[in-house]
Amino acid sequence: MSQGLDDVIAAETTLSHVDGAAGRLVIRGFELEDLAGRRSYEEVLALLWEGLAPPAAVAPSLGRARAHAFDILAPRLDALDGLSAVEGLRAGLAMLADADATPHHLLATAATAVLVAAIGRRSAGQPVVAPDPALGHAADFLRMLRGAAAPEAHVRALDTYLVAVVDHGLNASTFAARVVASTRAGLLSAVVAGLCALKGPLHGGAPGPVLDMFDAIDAAGDAEAWLRAAVERGDRLMGFGHRVYRVRDPRADVLKRAVTALRGETNRVRFAETVEAAALRLLAEHKRRRGLETNVEFYTALLLEALALPRALFTPVFAMGRVGGWAAHVLEQEAGGRLIRPQSRYVGPEPRRAA
Ligand code: CMC
Repeated sequence: MSQGLDDVIAAETTLSHVDGAAGRLVIRGFELEDLAGRRSYEEVLALLWEGLAPPAAVAPSLGRARAHAFDILAPRLDALDGLSAVEGLRAGLAMLADADATPHHLLATAATAVLVAAIGRRSAGQPVVAPDPALGHAADFLRMLRGAAAPEAHVRALDTYLVAVVDHGLNASTFAARVVASTRAGLLSAVVAGLCALKGPLHGGAPGPVLDMFDAIDAAGDAEAWLRAAVERGDRLMGFGHRVYRVRDPRADVLKRAVTALRGETNRVRFAETVEAAALRLLAEHKRRRGLETNVEFYTALLLEALALPRALFTPVFAMGRVGGWAAHVLEQEAGGRLIRPQSRYVGPEPRRAA
């Protein structure tokens, strides 16, 4: 038995490969560094969905799907009141009907952006903004969220982020989505399952807590002392460690470059570098055998902060990128996968007779 299924291969995929020893992420035959910041999110979706979904020009189809998702969801947003942003996204996606005629990979991807923007607007007490199907996905999301067109540098940074997180092998949320897809429950249900797995702090829930950590360290004034106390207490430092990577997560560098490029904006790159260096020193000292390095969430937190996104939207925005990957995995699972149904080992009491 492998608790946590480390090193267990549970699917064959043509979508992405995580090389944990070398710190490489390959997406459909391209190194991440050749896609993030160089190809748009829609171009990478086209790459992922090619051969799995009927051919269609992704950018215009996704724009139309955003408009359609808005028409369905905008009248129902009151139902999300009182929920946190990620809970609202979960409930909103669950409102989509399996009978909807829009191809579900487009609908789920579009609806996620529409919902995240609408949830952000409503939590700031502002009216929701309808999509503009002619815009790119990242540009339209920022416009829907802010109520005004975003500067090109912001659009580029968000687009880079969405590509950097779009797919990542058989991570927990993608596995959850594939398990649901393997029962033939449908893509929309599988995506809801993916989101439920993503929201935990050991997976996609980490970037908000990374910023909380920055704030606490900033207030304490001594990174080394704060981090040492945390590690000695046995706390996990958010933004470090990974199940597969034994070296630095390649997404961390891509995102660090993207946030550094946002010159003139509020960013805490210098401060983060100090925190990162101290954390890596301490983790090497205390957890030498494990090989704990910086993961994607560390610089995600800085990038999303520099884009002035509220902390509560960090995990929903992660979902906005990853949903395209979940959709691709669901299509792949539906095309050739079997029902995923592992075994458990019974360690309970021996059968006994009822008195
Ligand atoms: N800080 C301090 N110690 C850690 C950390 C950390 N961030 N991560 C792992 N460890 C320790 C852990 O306490 C354990 O120590 P010991 O052997 O003394 O008990 C040892 O390293 C092995 O840990 P593990 O639980 O076997 O590691 P895992 O592969 O199950 O965990 C992880 C992977 C990402 C859940 C974990 O590293 C973690 O909790 N990191 C912090 C949260 C975080 O940044 N999450 C985002 C993950 S990347 C985004 C994504 O791809 O989803």
